[in-house]
Order: sequence, then C-alpha cells, then structure tokens
Amino acid sequence: MLKIAMTGGDGLVGSRIVELLNQDFLFTNFRQAIMDITNKELVDESLDNADFDIFLHLAAYTNVQGAETNSDLAMRINRDGTKNLYDAVTRKGKKFIYISTDFVFDGENPTYYEDSTPNPKGEYAKSKYEGEKIVSGSAMIVRISYPYRAEYDPKKDFVRTFKHLLEQKKKLTMVTDSLMTPTFIDDIAFGLKHLMQNYSPQIFHLVGGSSISPYDATIMIADRFNLDKSLIGKTTYDEFMKGKAASPKLGVIKSKKNNFWKMRTFEEGLIEIEKQSLKI
Ligand SMILES: NC(=O)c1ccc[n+]([C@@H]2O[C@H](COP(=O)([O-])OP(=O)(O)OC[C@H]3O[C@@H](n4cnc5c(N)ncnc54)[C@H](OP(=O)(O)O)[C@@H]3O)[C@@H](O)[C@H]2O)c1
Repeated sequence: MLKIAMTGGDGLVGSRIVELLNQDFLFTNFRQAIMDITNKELVDESLDNADFDIFLHLAAYTNVQGAETNSDLAMRINRDGTKNLYDAVTRKGKKFIYISTDFVFDGENPTYYEDSTPNPKGEYAKSKYEGEKIVSGSAMIVRISYPYRAEYDPKKDFVRTFKHLLEQKKKLTMVTDSLMTPTFIDDIAFGLKHLMQNYSPQIFHLVGGSSISPYDATIMIADRFNLDKSLIGKTTYDEFMKGKAASPKLGVIKSKKNNFWKMRTFEEGLIEIEKQSLKI
C-alpha cells in the first residue's frame, strides 16, 4: 500500500480525502501542532524520520480576505512553508503533490486549462502561486476550485454557508455576472486516488463539471433544500467586490487531462450532498 505523508489532513479538503481513501493508502498527517511548516528545522527533522512514498501538501493560509492584511504570514506559510517541505521531501528522493487553486488565474479570460498562464491578483492567490513556482516542473500540482462537501463542522464551505444563511431566513445579495467552478470534494479525493497511483510531475485541474454564477448557485441550493428563493437578491461583480480581496471574475476552469474521473456538475454534487446529509 502506498504511504502518503501529508499536511492539512484535518482541514476541509484533506480530512475528506483521508475519510474516503484510507482503505487505499496509508496516511500520516502532520498537523500544525506537531509540525509548523514555517519551522524549517522542525520540518527537516520530522520528515527525515518519516517513512512515505508521496508527500501530499494541502496545508495553507486559506483566508482570502485575511491575506490582504496578513500578506507576510500568507507568504510565510504558502511560499516558505512549501519550500521547507519540498526541500526536505526531494532530499529524500520522494514524490511531492502541491494542492493549489483556481485563484492563480486572473479571471479575465473565458476559460483556464492546465497550460493557461497564471496571473494572480490578491495576496492569497499570489502566495499560492509562489508555492507553485517552487515545485513547478518536478512535482505534481493539483488545482482545485470552490470545494464543498456534505458535512464538516470546523469550517463551512460556500454551499453550507449559503444554505445555513437561507435556513436562518437571512437576505442574500448574490453576484450575477461572474462565474465559478464548484467542486465536490469527494470527486477531488477520487481523482487524487488515480493521480497518486499514477504519479507524474505535471499540473492537473481537478475541478467541477460545470461553472455557474454565485447567484445561480445560490438559487440551486435553495431549490435543492426547499429554502426561500425570494431571500436571494442580485448584484454585480463590480459592486460586490468594492473593498474586498480580488477574486477571479470569470473562474471557468477546466481540465484537458482528466480522462480518469468524471467530476460532478454542481447540480449532481448538490444531489449527492442531500443524499449524504440524509444518510441515504
Ligand atoms: N477551501 C477552498 O475554497 C480552496 C479553494 C482552492 C484551493 N484550496 C486549497 O486547498 C488546500 C486545502 O484547503 P482547505 O480549505 O481544506 O484548508 P483549511 O480547512 O483552511 O485547512 C488548512 C490546513 O492548513 C493547516 N495549516 C495552516 N497553517 C499551517 C502551518 N503553519 N503549518 C502546518 N499546517 C498548517 C491547518 O492545520 P491545523 O488544522 O492543524 O491548524 C489546516 O489543516 C489549500 O492548499 C488551499 O489553498 C482551497
């Protein structure tokens, strides 16, 4: 069985990967409490003593808004932390997978594929792209986009955030003229299973099968869970983004390489979320 050492194994995405694939791989998660990736000596010592085939690096400073005021911290974790890990892993001659984001793209072009040129805008996006540049060419980079799942108490993804707000009868104002590509996290896990078993140091996009505006996404959430659609109002991207960290306006991200796992559309993902929530 392949041995996978990882960071971020208790986060939103990583914990589901472990839940779904722990019969296929032997995972060892290096939590921040035992290995802060910004501490180079600790990383060297921890990984020198670890036995693994592939290192799966998910840990990151993930607060997109927070990174605007904490850009130094975002860089320390997402760029320098990645370098600390990557150096220690390559010194051992082991394989490395870096989980990245669609935010490395500027959102000004109609579609982004694996070979599109990154042009990150906000501080979070820039720090994640710095991480990519460190490993690029000799590690696998897997970009994901707006991940969501049925349950995970420590952190709400956008689906559970808007579902919760609608359940609380809160009014929402959603953007109609931008696009995002929501990705069901179970599909990220199963896509990664293939990629870990067929490792190649290239860029892959593991992203949802459809792109949608935030407004339409929220309407679909309301429809699926029988919530009040009249609470959902409309706004434009330019209006909504005032004073906020830049995020890509047109986040249509696709893969030219994923012929190994069918990624669910947002509609299909919501159906599965409903099933999993009802435990059917
Ligand atoms: N969520 C999204 O919308 C999204 C979208 C695209 C890409 N991504 C990428 O997907 C990956 C996983 O994201 P996520 O949303 O699952 O993350 P998350 O739930 O916010 O969890 C972040 C993880 O990073 C760990 N971490 C943070 N700072 C650390 C440090 N200094 N040393 C060691 N570990 C540290 C945390 O460990 P502790 O819990 O132990 O503190 C936690 O497990 C990230 O690389 C992110 O950039 C996420």
